[in-house]
Amino acid sequence: MSPLKVLSVTSELFPIIKTGGLADVAGALPAALSNEGVQVVSLLPGYPAVLKALGRIETVREYQDLFGRPARLLSATASQLELFIIDAPHLFERPGSPYLTPDGRDWPDNAWRFAALGRIAAEIGQGAVPGFTPDIVHAHDWQAALAPAYLHYSDMPRPGTVITIHNIAFQGIFPADILSELGLPPRSFTVDGVEYYGQIGFLKAGLQLSDRITTVSPTYAKEIQSPEGGMGLDGLLRSRSRDVFGIRNGIDESVWDPTSDISLAAPFTRSTLEKRSINKQALQERLGLEADPDAMLFGVVSRLSEQKGLDLVLAALPSLLTGGAQLALLGAGDRVLEESFRAASIVYPGQVGCFFGYDEELAHLIQGGSDALLVPSRFEPCGLTQLCALHYGSVPIVSRVGGLSDTVIDANEMAIASGVATGVQFAPVNLGGLVDAANRAKMLWSDHEAWRRLQENGMAAEVGWARPARQYARLYRSCLEEV
Ligand code: ADP
Ligand code: GLC
Repeated sequence: MSPLKVLSVTSELFPIIKTGGLADVAGALPAALSNEGVQVVSLLPGYPAVLKALGRIETVREYQDLFGRPARLLSATASQLELFIIDAPHLFERPGSPYLTPDGRDWPDNAWRFAALGRIAAEIGQGAVPGFTPDIVHAHDWQAALAPAYLHYSDMPRPGTVITIHNIAFQGIFPADILSELGLPPRSFTVDGVEYYGQIGFLKAGLQLSDRITTVSPTYAKEIQSPEGGMGLDGLLRSRSRDVFGIRNGIDESVWDPTSDISLAAPFTRSTLEKRSINKQALQERLGLEADPDAMLFGVVSRLSEQKGLDLVLAALPSLLTGGAQLALLGAGDRVLEESFRAASIVYPGQVGCFFGYDEELAHLIQGGSDALLVPSRFEPCGLTQLCALHYGSVPIVSRVGGLSDTVIDANEMAIASGVATGVQFAPVNLGGLVDAANRAKMLWSDHEAWRRLQENGMAAEVGWARPARQYARLYRSCLEEV
């Protein structure tokens, strides 16, 4: 099979800049795809953290006026990734989050900032960088979603286009009157183009104008085609359903490897699961929990947002903590949720321990030291933390939505009897559902043999990128046959 070149267009990339799972996916796919004969170069905005991380840099293109000021396109490598970086200080030289001002609002010029990402992706797609003309431009989420639109409205030959939806809740909607400033032609402002209820919809445009649409699990691919899950885009997705594919995410098994993880107090394997008790003890100590090896320890590693259903965990605490159980929570985001969990750690000293902020090491320790990981999301395109939990012998307790339902095998009667169960699922996503699930998990936990079986099954589950990478490679190739 001939080697294939892909430009991956993304607003975040692990380990350089990350706010969520998108970064993990964009960071891990290139290596996985290289095993499939696909060369990936990633295009990323030059935020300060990105410019700082670069190794060898070469300027491959200069712009006199990229939405108002001069800019450069750099070619570089960092963390073994091949990169193009948009060095445009007027757009990206800002502290903190890639998307938000220090006081938590969207940057007012986000339309231009991410139009620049799409526009330069389109130019690279059409041969602007000698030596790397991609066969496929693969855009991730709304921030990259104008790439296929610019390509569609250009008269020059274009590569194949794929867009991946990581979260349909974020759509990038902006006022109609900036259309020409963004360099989009008047004819693009139609229902078949970038127009979305009288405004410009970046994600809408990408979904309308890409050759293929993927999302990050088979179940989410179905959910977003329903009025409840589509958040306004279900009609469009249904009309394109032949081109919509669900490919579940993996985790990077070189980053998440319990046998050699330096963030753990005690690395372990499937046959040395008892060493997890050392991690549990370290975790209890780290978060001010009582040092009790016999207390069942629930973990949470999550953005604090409505999506993740953590208000249900708060409401379930009185029941969750009965019998001396504990909760270790790592989270960042919503202030109200943060305050509520802080208050809970005062009400339940030694039983609820929290850290608020972003902490990669603690995330690993929670996966390697907790007994069960709670993921009660209201919706979840794929979810990565339950995959990490499986791989680290923490039994996931998840709501039956999106990628959570595709990746965890519920410990129902038959799954236990057949020896295939890996976790606990619950539906509907409400307080009663979560409490029942936690009680079911407690019952299983009290049976040492049964619990160990769940852990071992989870650790044996295929959570890596090999299979999904094969599916992406096949999708790219099928897309090229048509362009
Ligand atoms: P989402 O992208 O919706 O936030 P995912 O489960 O796909 O959810 O990915 C979340 C990623 O971010 C995982 O790699 C998880 O370990 C990590 N993560 C979430 N919150 C934190 C945090 N507070 N500190 C460190 N890592 C976090
Ligand atoms: C989004 C989703 C999450 C998914 C991640 C990576 O942030 O919320 O479910 O795993 O993207 O695709």
